[in-house]
Amino acid sequence: MLNKQEILDYLTVEDPQELFSRADKVRKEEVGDDVYLRGLIEFSNHCRRQCGYCGIRAGNHDIVRYRMTIPEIIACAREAKSKDYSTVVIQGGEDMAATADWMAEIIESIKAETGMAITLSLGERDLEEIKLWRKAGADRYLLRFETGNQKLYETIHPSLPGKKSDRFEVLSQLRELGYEVGSGVLIGIPGQTYDSLAEDIVRFGEIDLDMIGVGPYIPHPDTPLFTLPKAESGQVPNSVEMACRVVALARLVCPKSNIPSTTALATLEGVSGRLQGLSCGANVLMPNFTPAKYRQLYEIYPAKAVLSEAQTDLTEWLESIGRHRGKGRGDSPNRLLRG
Ligand code: 5AD
Repeated sequence: MLNKQEILDYLTVEDPQELFSRADKVRKEEVGDDVYLRGLIEFSNHCRRQCGYCGIRAGNHDIVRYRMTIPEIIACAREAKSKDYSTVVIQGGEDMAATADWMAEIIESIKAETGMAITLSLGERDLEEIKLWRKAGADRYLLRFETGNQKLYETIHPSLPGKKSDRFEVLSQLRELGYEVGSGVLIGIPGQTYDSLAEDIVRFGEIDLDMIGVGPYIPHPDTPLFTLPKAESGQVPNSVEMACRVVALARLVCPKSNIPSTTALATLEGVSGRLQGLSCGANVLMPNFTPAKYRQLYEIYPAKAVLSEAQTDLTEWLESIGRHRGKGRGDSPNRLLRG
């Protein structure tokens, strides 16, 4: 296992090539050449929070809000199933009108009809709610801790009145409930130093994450973080290259985890961004199944790239880079190991 100093060295070494090939080798040995596809459904852009980086924050009055209906959500899942997907990811803002019962009904219906694995990405919800969803059939949960630096976290992610935000607490609740647990960080947020990023990566290993999603911070002009100053020294850049270093390090600290090449990578560099992610440790892609009319409104950052389900040449494209589309559920080998 890498220690913090070794991680810091890899984050700052001039040429990351050795890191990338080391991570690619570990990826091949530990999770093989299969690339699993997850169908992403961005069901709502309503959100009660005020995250300083995010375009769908409650304070942004310049966007049109939407919430898909149950039949619309199930239709997306059905479409993913028809294209041989084995997992759907239901993601949205912290939309409290999406009640626990409403969500449980969706989970139960998708499970009953398609048998697909269900991943939730619904923010910080109450213990009772995540319990109910697990019972309803949800398999996995994604909740990035964004940064483990308490001071920086409080600046970019204000707590709700009277309720201190503690994503590590939620992550351990999810683990207790038997979810496959995913988390990750933003890379290059103003004020983020190499030192704090290295600590975050050490943390991935300590929490023993089953899935790790990371991506470069992409400034959104309608958010407060847009004007936040950079760290005076040791500021982490929000580049594709730095994000790839973090993907590679995530593979080294959690060798059996599932790691996506994320949308943010593709937003900055298109297909080449996604390819870079896959060649330095990633083994998952998340094509978007959100209906086009809603997809454009789910603007967590500007000009979000979408790997559309219409991109039918994905299997071929994977073969051309020596990888194969994964069959079956593609559960995290790390989770399976834990039993
Ligand atoms: N740039 C990059 N990623 C972002 N996210 C939210 N806003 C941005 C942004 N401006 C990421 C967060 C969140 C995930 C769903 O999207 O890390 O956890």
